[in-house]
Amino acid sequence: MDENKKFYVTTPIYYPSGIPHLGTSYTTIVADVVARFKRLQGYDVMFTTGTDEHGQKIEEKAKNENKTPKKYVDEIVEKYKSLWSLLNISYDKFIRTTDKSHEKAVKKIFNDLYEKGEIYKGTYKGWYCTPCEAFFTDTQLKDGNCPDCGREVNWAEEEAYFFKLSKYGDKLLDYYKKHPRFICPEGRKNEMVQFIKDGLDDLCVSRTSFKWGIPVDFDKNHVVYVWLDALTNYITSQGYGSKDDSNYKKYWPANIHFVGKEIVRFHVIIWPAILMALGLPLPEQVYGHGWILFGDGSRMAKSKGNVIDPVVLSERYGVDALRYFLMREFSFGSDGLFTNEALIKRINFDLANDLGNLLSRSVAMIEKYFGGTLPVEHKLGNIDNELALIAMKVTKKYEELMDKYNFSGALGEVWLLISKCNKYIDETMPWQLGKDEKKRSRLAAVLYNLCEVLRIVSVLIYPVMPSTSEKIWQQIGAPKDVCTWDAVSKWGELPKNIKVKKGEVLFPRIDVEKEIEALNNLYTVKKSEPKNENVVSLIDIEDFAKVKLIVAKIKQCEAVKKSKKLLKLLVDDGCGERTVVSGISQYYSPEELVGKSVILVSNLKPVKLCGVESNGMILAATCPDGGVKVIFVDGIAPGSKLS
Ligand code: MSP
Repeated sequence: MDENKKFYVTTPIYYPSGIPHLGTSYTTIVADVVARFKRLQGYDVMFTTGTDEHGQKIEEKAKNENKTPKKYVDEIVEKYKSLWSLLNISYDKFIRTTDKSHEKAVKKIFNDLYEKGEIYKGTYKGWYCTPCEAFFTDTQLKDGNCPDCGREVNWAEEEAYFFKLSKYGDKLLDYYKKHPRFICPEGRKNEMVQFIKDGLDDLCVSRTSFKWGIPVDFDKNHVVYVWLDALTNYITSQGYGSKDDSNYKKYWPANIHFVGKEIVRFHVIIWPAILMALGLPLPEQVYGHGWILFGDGSRMAKSKGNVIDPVVLSERYGVDALRYFLMREFSFGSDGLFTNEALIKRINFDLANDLGNLLSRSVAMIEKYFGGTLPVEHKLGNIDNELALIAMKVTKKYEELMDKYNFSGALGEVWLLISKCNKYIDETMPWQLGKDEKKRSRLAAVLYNLCEVLRIVSVLIYPVMPSTSEKIWQQIGAPKDVCTWDAVSKWGELPKNIKVKKGEVLFPRIDVEKEIEALNNLYTVKKSEPKNENVVSLIDIEDFAKVKLIVAKIKQCEAVKKSKKLLKLLVDDGCGERTVVSGISQYYSPEELVGKSVILVSNLKPVKLCGVESNGMILAATCPDGGVKVIFVDGIAPGSKLS
């Protein structure tokens, strides 16, 4: 191995606030594919992943489950590790922010930055989003809510340490200019440049309102705020700040940080600024990939509960099929919609038909005509040359595309070669050649060429489908030394008298309709759900706390034109007036309602009902006789909160 060929690839470190899902698996599989590809190319690879374990959210979750934060995260981290093992993730280092070495290094980094005057003590005032653990300014809020997750934010003020991020704006812009490939894809760069041009605020890097974090060494009331704790994992995982920092010296700066698009900002603004402040080199590239979206178009983030279980999918179709689908179906930089049907179709067409058939037909013919041992006494004719040429072209193109992280394009090239090879079988008609004793040497040549393509294909798909590659090597009897990156760009590397051995079918065909039905049954709520509607599944206090109930006083009321059911209410919610539409006109006249105080769900997204925008919902009881009774709470001031 060339000692200078080093490659360091990372995934984000995931929050162990819920179990890993298809979204987190996506980034991790991508990083694994790149790590495997680079190893194949002869690089000395460092591939890290891990978990981001501190913060208020974890502290709260643990409390709800009556566990210590450490016990809580330990259990989830095990789930991450076992999923990564199932998905064949070949990471070299799994970093946990609760690792003693990380905690020690973060304390040191914090101290160093403080001593350099890059961190100072102040008071933080701002809008805080608890799930995202991030502060926002007025201008950053989106419709008054968190710009990242859309949820409600709260005003917070506290003594805190700040990192002087604001002074790095120009330096960052200059860095982007000099390193045009630092932020990828290109589109994300413009967004970041604009964000910086709008003005950077100093960054809050400590908190006093929760305890589950790394204490600031010289001010024990404070714990390090999560992004400083989290981002530094990329260097602490390599021993930065520890006695043995040889890996840091060897692998840093990282070649590529893979992150989802929502955390690009942290990686291309905050992280480089911290590194600049520490006087350390910056990573070569940050790639912000798109999201996998699910059914209704929502992200499968853990907190939204919309999870397609990677374990179930792997069990049903095999890990490699899932890995292939994720890498082939989605264009890496953009969002993509996940459907079970698309997955099954890819398995049927690309894997069972194209690849699986090519292998099983080739091996079956070698067994049938040559007893499993393939003599290599052949000359290349025109049609064979063409096949060899395409194989070489595809290999080159594949490498270019993989180096640009265009996984779908690279796999598309491989499948071009597979289709070409299936066409080659139709054109050379080996079953006809097999009927004629005089054509045995031509038949051997054709079958040899098929195996050559299979050898090349098996190497090219290795980063994405490592187990499938192994199975192909076993079936075509290819020795390991001809399944290397060097050998892949040469034609005719398979040795004489290889012994083929038919094995299991790589990818059994799936009956689409039956399978979709089976999946539906798997995911639908069991029919034995309680019949009594008052007996519902239990929710956490956290879920209930999401609903903001307040008292509101009805100031005006009128019927909504064109509607038999709706009344339009103008209510005083304690902060101002808002319009609410309610389907109670069969039960109340407007006069009966004016002046009454009611309970209002105040944080419902606005909806238009018969052309009138409704900003909330008033609570009413549906009685057993079918009547509806609004809950009046007269005598309580508008704006009073219910909890
Ligand atoms: N802990 C932070 C990251 C700190 S890195 C220094 C964090 N964790 S997370 O658990 O929320 O993971 C977010 C990452 O998971 C995304 O950036 C992305 O890589 C991946 N994904 C989560 N949902 C996803 C999809 N639906 N689709 C694709 N990737 C997704 O943010």
